[in-house]
Amino acid sequence: MYIDLHNHYLPAVDDGVLKIEETLLGLKLAIKEKVSTICFTPHIWSGRYNNSPEKLKEVFEKVKEEAKDIKIKLFLGSEVYYSSTIAEDFSKGLYLPLGEKKKFLLVEFASAVMPQGVSDGLYKLMLEGCEPIIAHPERYSYVQKDYECLFDFAKAQIPMQVTTQAIMGMLGRRAHRTAVKLLDEGLVSFIASDAHSPEERPLLFREAVRFLNRRYGYQTAKRLAIDNPKRILEGKSLLPVAGRKGKYSPFQ
Ligand SMILES: [Fe+2]
Repeated sequence: MYIDLHNHYLPAVDDGVLKIEETLLGLKLAIKEKVSTICFTPHIWSGRYNNSPEKLKEVFEKVKEEAKDIKIKLFLGSEVYYSSTIAEDFSKGLYLPLGEKKKFLLVEFASAVMPQGVSDGLYKLMLEGCEPIIAHPERYSYVQKDYECLFDFAKAQIPMQVTTQAIMGMLGRRAHRTAVKLLDEGLVSFIASDAHSPEERPLLFREAVRFLNRRYGYQTAKRLAIDNPKRILEGKSLLPVAGRKGKYSPFQ
């Protein structure tokens, strides 16, 4: 069923889940949310969360062993905090792209000010053979003020991920309004939970998909929650997603 490509359920590596028991609880609750596949995306953020791929893979192997009786597919990726050296750091192997094919990299920006030179940085990353994904644009204050600042990324076919909690209004009114605007305009490629705790910041997939289905119809809801996340894991190019009244982004 649904595929969650952004969460902090790998234990004790960032500001997400602390204990493996919480991870296991989170995975069991994920099944109840009809989520069949989870890609853990711990922060890699120089100076704040100095996670190396080796360390994260070690924790991931332990979790897989402990979770072997839970019927959910597990992958490992990361959520990379944008810096001007992102392309060089990627080529040095400092990051973990998503899924089996390792083509897509989840990138988050500073939330108060758009990072300088970000278009160039992401372009260089693409020259390294990597496809960046913009994590939760609806949470950035400059996007909330003027969502057209995302148009350059949309023109460059850079996928954007919106958060289930923002869709459900749990991250404030501005984030909700912006998430819905981006979805209405057909600018969003997929949804993910960005869950940090099974209790306090859960996956919310069922409710979010119900909202999407009501507002945009079955095909859009399916593309956002199933088809495009699956294609990311498989390293395939993404399908266009229709927004309000079947409207596609002019950049697709
Ligand atoms: Fe995150």
